[in-house]
Amino acid sequence: MNVLVIGSGGREHALVWALGRSSQVTRIFCAPGNPGIAELVECAPIAVSDFEAIAEFAQQKTIDLVIVGPEDPLADGIVDVLQSKGLRVFGPNQAAAEIEASKVFMKHLLRKYDIPTAAYATFTEIGQALDYVRQQPLPIVIKADGLAAGKGVTIAHTLAEAEQTLHDVMVEQKIGASGQQVVIEEFMQGQEMSILAFVDGETVRACAPAQDHKPIFDGDQGPNTGGMGTYSPLPHMSESIVNEAVRTILEPTAKAMVAEGRPFKGLLFAGLMITPDGKPKVIEFNARFGDPETQVVLPRLQTDLLDVLNAVVDGKLEHIQLQWSDQVAVCVIVASEGYPAAYRKGDLIEGLAEASNHALIFHAGTALQHDGALVTNGGRVLGVLGQGESVDEARKQAYEAVRCIRIAGMQYRKDIATKALVPFV
Ligand code: AMP
Ligand code: GLY
Repeated sequence: MNVLVIGSGGREHALVWALGRSSQVTRIFCAPGNPGIAELVECAPIAVSDFEAIAEFAQQKTIDLVIVGPEDPLADGIVDVLQSKGLRVFGPNQAAAEIEASKVFMKHLLRKYDIPTAAYATFTEIGQALDYVRQQPLPIVIKADGLAAGKGVTIAHTLAEAEQTLHDVMVEQKIGASGQQVVIEEFMQGQEMSILAFVDGETVRACAPAQDHKPIFDGDQGPNTGGMGTYSPLPHMSESIVNEAVRTILEPTAKAMVAEGRPFKGLLFAGLMITPDGKPKVIEFNARFGDPETQVVLPRLQTDLLDVLNAVVDGKLEHIQLQWSDQVAVCVIVASEGYPAAYRKGDLIEGLAEASNHALIFHAGTALQHDGALVTNGGRVLGVLGQGESVDEARKQAYEAVRCIRIAGMQYRKDIATKALVPFV
């Protein structure tokens, strides 16, 4: 089969790499891809928003399966457009992608079907939102309704901060139109778990769990990012939690989407809070592979990835069982100076050849200059994957590689996967 991956980040690099190991694959293409992906497969310089050009390219290259990486094209209906042109696509249609594109839709769905999540209320009027937060315990969580590239969530620790956030989001619209409606929800204690699950309507096949590190600084300090590092598996958490999450959250959500006339087909990503009593509750749903969760989950998948994707598209997921290696995977993100606020682009990236001797490197925000130099081109620049028999071994491998990399002002967290070393639940 010929396959086309849509996107240009570390997630797509990991998808292309994993598809390269499939025995079913003839040729892999990526649009638009990045310099790391271009070392593996042919990349086409087409924007992820240009559905017509993507369809044309896919037809020209006789693509048998298109795999959509990022959330924006999914929310804008890329799957509907490509399918209407006769293409086979892995990913939810626009109606199903709403589970990520609108937090209000997602929260109402969970409430209606009694699926565990934080208590909440929604607002379109600043006055009512202010009245509500003044009556709630702190900290309190404020979320813009729409897609906001990881910037739509604030955990307010004081009333002043909550009021300021509501003003910035609803009145100033500092994160854009996605702030016209907000969700205000209860703060949940615990540790996070990401479960990526293949879903073909009602059947759910959960991947091995991963844990992301959202804040920019060590010890979970500083503002949230798209994710500064991940690892899988989670040896400090009971294995039964994943089964419970599948039974109480993922399967009921898949059924609820079918009942709502929006069957979800693709990769449903549950961002969960595992409370100190070991119960999983939904923080968010994403309608796509996680970034950087994909970078640690796919390297551990022993089942042929293309078989799984095809089973989802054909509605035959019930015949698939996923197999996982015992290896531990740790991905450390190298980010630009200034990220997640304004950051520079165009800084030289050095030391990658040496780093690749230690670990697998996934490109995220990189670009090639005319003179052939590799430079930064995004907030998250690289994902460095260490693999080993233990968390210690995988961490060591990843950090040995990270220390070979030189970028002016580069940032990375030094504590990725250290939560795994302390038993939790
Ligand atoms: P989201 O974009 O909804 O995943 O939120 C971003 C991050 O904010 C999450 O990964 C959590 O770390 C944190 N967060 C969101 N909602 C809550 C909540 N209700 N309680 C505690 N932390 C939360
Ligand atoms: N790592 C979280 C996300 O992909 O949204």
